[in-house]
Amino acid sequence: MERALADDQLKKLIDEAKAVMAKAHCPYSKFRVGSALLTTDNRIFTGCNVENACYNLGQCAERNAMAKAVSEGSKSFKAIVICSDMKDQFISPCGGCRQFMREFGTDWDVYMTKADGSVKRMTVAELLPVSFGPEDLDRK
Ligand code: THU
Repeated sequence: MERALADDQLKKLIDEAKAVMAKAHCPYSKFRVGSALLTTDNRIFTGCNVENACYNLGQCAERNAMAKAVSEGSKSFKAIVICSDMKDQFISPCGGCRQFMREFGTDWDVYMTKADGSVKRMTVAELLPVSFGPEDLDRK
């Protein structure tokens, strides 16, 4: 099975992730992040980062998109796109978000982007090798 998204599908996800960046609540870092999550039944959920005056309570864009999907009944994911304003570097998900992604499987795609829309695709397994997940809880 070809796992890469069709060009138009990827473009739509990038457009949505860029659009939701405008809603980021990031008065402390001033670092806007947007993400668009595609479910296996082709629903799209977006998320932006939401920071807090109690700094450690801030939430990443990716986690907010996944939480929205789960609360709307979707937890089978095909791909997630992440956007930021960084021009020279692909926006890379933090370790916490990698673990949060892994909860929903290791074999799905993360598209990291630069501001110009160029993308780097890696699977969750590649981003978080030798991971701990829900299946491990049955192996004690
Ligand atoms: N952030 C994300 O939302 N996603 C990432 O992939 C990296 C970092 C947010 C967290 C915080 O609000 C700001 O970016 C700076 O770290």
